[in-house]
Amino acid sequence: MRMVDLISKKREGLSLSRDEIQFMIKGYTEGTIPDYQMSAWAMAVFFQGLDIKETSDLTMEMARSGDQVDLSGIQGIKVDKHSTGGVGDKTSLIVVPLVASVGVPVAKMSGRGLGHTGGTVDKLESIEGFKIELTKEQFFQNVNDFKMALVGQSGNLTPADKKLYGLRDVTGTVNSMPLIASSIMSKKIASGADAIVLDVKVGAGAFMKSLEDAKELAKTMVSIGNHLNRKTVAVITDMNQPLGFEIGNANEVREAIEVLSGKGEERLTKVCLTLASHMAVAGQVFPDFNTAYQKLEEILRTGKALETFAKFIEAQGGNSQVVTESEKLPQAQYHIEVTAEQGGYIEEINAEAMGNAAMYLGAGRKTKEDQIDYAVGISLKKKVADEVTAGEVIALIHSNSENVQDSYELIKQSVKISSDRIEELPIIYEVVE
Ligand code: URA
Repeated sequence: MRMVDLISKKREGLSLSRDEIQFMIKGYTEGTIPDYQMSAWAMAVFFQGLDIKETSDLTMEMARSGDQVDLSGIQGIKVDKHSTGGVGDKTSLIVVPLVASVGVPVAKMSGRGLGHTGGTVDKLESIEGFKIELTKEQFFQNVNDFKMALVGQSGNLTPADKKLYGLRDVTGTVNSMPLIASSIMSKKIASGADAIVLDVKVGAGAFMKSLEDAKELAKTMVSIGNHLNRKTVAVITDMNQPLGFEIGNANEVREAIEVLSGKGEERLTKVCLTLASHMAVAGQVFPDFNTAYQKLEEILRTGKALETFAKFIEAQGGNSQVVTESEKLPQAQYHIEVTAEQGGYIEEINAEAMGNAAMYLGAGRKTKEDQIDYAVGISLKKKVADEVTAGEVIALIHSNSENVQDSYELIKQSVKISSDRIEELPIIYEVVE
């Protein structure tokens, strides 16, 4: 087999067989197929696409290109959750203990944040003593004992995807639906779960800017999952404004604790309950979505999910007192108000700009090497459609430096106020099963 023939075949819009995809991914991972040939193939895919069989074969070959996590030592149907990334997205911190409380085992691997979106691992590390690395035995034992553990990505997971993603980034081929879908799903498949619930974000602060694109990505990923015998559900949720009120690390943990106590912001709570309900149905704990939603709402009210979160923190070396004494989380030195220049209704809070404003404060990384300041961030005081009066506080900046000019300006620019009444944005757009 020759790579040049596979490039030509794709250029002409023909489908590649599983053997051909295997040859290509194996050769690329091992270095016998060079970057220039792989880039030519990626560009051919960009224009010609891949059918669902090719997309599934590509996903599976990338999943097999490195370590594959074997979760068979954990009892029950293991359910994973993935978000395509957004600003203020602390859903994993809420959804995982919530479903664990009703017996759904979640053995989760999460990433660090880069750029305007934050990572779950960084948020958890804002808790004093919390360890994101566990031995395999400890990881399995925690999931068997109280149904959840969350670790950072380690080992050699999907090296083919890592290499291909890096190449796509510099060859104008990131924005290809089958390449994005197979890239995300290969990591989920290699992580070993039996069922996957995807949170596909759509809007100004998300990777997918239009509902049409978000739907296509959701459908492609669900088809891949079904082809590979993993029950997969995708929920398309709003990222036209940050999720919840808090953006940062320690302050996002604080907000997650509020939701787990049944006192969270309504839209964030709804997203979490929706994702958790699909996970609980996939894990066969409840027969249908409505029953699951009702039961999980009750679990939030009783504080059982918060108890699970505390146990999880303790089991990974963290100070679990933070769940009742949130002042034990890192606190910033300065708190600076951003006020509205005019009265009216909040028309827009640009999520990407807000994420960047938090990053400038030190809550996120501009480059992989940057150190995070867990205490800093932004607390929003208003959401889209809220009424506001001139001079009212719209956001609070938490900083360890007195100079917050860049973030202050960005926050001001990212909030638009209209004199007309504004309709509230939907929070859940669609569910693809
Ligand atoms: N996220 C991924 O993991 N892969 C892509 O290709 C795009 C976003």
